[in-house]
Amino acid sequence: MGRIIIFDTTLRDGEQAAGTRLGTREKLEIARQLARLKVDVIEAGFPISSPEDFEAVQVISKELEGPIICALSRAIARDIDECGRALAKTKKSRIHTGIGVSDIHIAGKFRDEKYGKTIGEKKTHVLQMSIEAVKHARNYTDDVEFYAEDAGRANRSYLFEIIQAVIKAGATVVNIPDTTGYTVPEQFGALIRDIHTRVPNIDQAIISVHCHNDLGMAVANTLAGVKNGAQQVEGTINGIGERAGNAAIEEVVMALHTRRDYFGVETAIKTSEFYRTSRLVANMFGMRVPPNKAIVGKNAFAHSAGIHVDGFLKKRETYEIMQPKDVGFPESRVVLTARTGRHGLRDRLEKMGYTLSSEELEKVYQRFLSIGDKKQEVFDEDLMAIIQDEVRPVPEMYHIEYLHTSSGTGTIPTATVRIRVGSESRQMAACGDGPVDAIYKAIKLVVDIPAKVTQYEIQAVTSGAEAIGEVTVRVEGKDTVVIGRGASTDIIEASAKAYINAINRLVYQKGKSK
Ligand code: KIV
Ligand code: ZN
Repeated sequence: MGRIIIFDTTLRDGEQAAGTRLGTREKLEIARQLARLKVDVIEAGFPISSPEDFEAVQVISKELEGPIICALSRAIARDIDECGRALAKTKKSRIHTGIGVSDIHIAGKFRDEKYGKTIGEKKTHVLQMSIEAVKHARNYTDDVEFYAEDAGRANRSYLFEIIQAVIKAGATVVNIPDTTGYTVPEQFGALIRDIHTRVPNIDQAIISVHCHNDLGMAVANTLAGVKNGAQQVEGTINGIGERAGNAAIEEVVMALHTRRDYFGVETAIKTSEFYRTSRLVANMFGMRVPPNKAIVGKNAFAHSAGIHVDGFLKKRETYEIMQPKDVGFPESRVVLTARTGRHGLRDRLEKMGYTLSSEELEKVYQRFLSIGDKKQEVFDEDLMAIIQDEVRPVPEMYHIEYLHTSSGTGTIPTATVRIRVGSESRQMAACGDGPVDAIYKAIKLVVDIPAKVTQYEIQAVTSGAEAIGEVTVRVEGKDTVVIGRGASTDIIEASAKAYINAINRLVYQKGKSK
């Protein structure tokens, strides 16, 4: 089985994504995680572009062992010298040099007559610059990669001529970028196949593919490249990068692994590190991973619709082609929504330790549907609250008899409550940051148990000015978490009811666990 080399450019092309700039320490941390992921090559930066980039390449190449550390340059001697200097301390270095090779790039970037008057003369000049750049880079390292920028839109015979020339000059890897994400898989695959047949010395170099995602085809094009003989793939974690980004490495690698039967290749990647790597990169770059993102999105292993949940619970493979643990996800998830169905609900309740009769399940299911209609996802705490309302009602240890709040501009919000506790009534008053805070403080003075509100949500359950508001609070006790609910046309009253409801649950659970 052929082995595909994985070239990660998160720290270079990924960092080019608009609005992101990482410091050396953050880059080093990502590079360490990429080494744990076992990528073969890390492109650590573009040293001439800034002193910070130079430093990052230098530090990463000094500190990191394992992967080849690569630095980018244009086909310009002083760029290459900066790469050589930044990489001086590493055992395994690569210089990645290159130039635009499509007519659009050549005509657009080399307008000056010093590069030639006609497009033909300019192309000859670019060919010469490519050869010289590779030769110059070889003074620093034996591992030189040449990128033929915008190869996807380049004239084929000119591209083949350049590839042949740079290999002759000493390039060990030739990178075929689809810089603008213009090609489609069939075309890009054919290009790689043609390079194999039309470049006479191609057996002396490795073909690399580097695809951008402007038309959403970066991963598909990369895979087409592999199918047609590319031996190295380039990409970034989470697919971050210029404009619509680069090919997402986790998607390319998992496609190669999952469809080994089709591609017939392997990689050295430790795929169980993907989830961790993805989250690290997302956090450092401040770029959220969309929930539906393949491989690493929050919902990549989540099942929700009734038919899916039913099939998945009977046999995982009905709806999963990979195991979550293969990419470092803790486990598959059944997301409970109004569409989940009774089987999924019963399964979750059983996992939570509840075995219900058919009538009880039906009661819970009806309440579950009404909550599911209002909320995107029904959580375990919601189910506990439903069970306690419908099946195992919680005794009302505390009951609000009276409440009063006062607040307004220039007034300190205050609240008074009278709560019945068994046969006696207790009364307290408190000030707070607002009326809800004041009332919660007053209630706390009466009940005197640890009950911290960690989440507060309010929803209108009917419409119009007289709408009923339903308040849901998540309350943490000493060693348990409960959900409390309360409804009223007065949102302060609804808030107080929700809190007392949560406290009654806490007290009940505490009594049960004694
Ligand atoms: O997309 C591209 O062409 C590049 C090169 C610099 C390799 O990122
Ligand atoms: Zn790129």
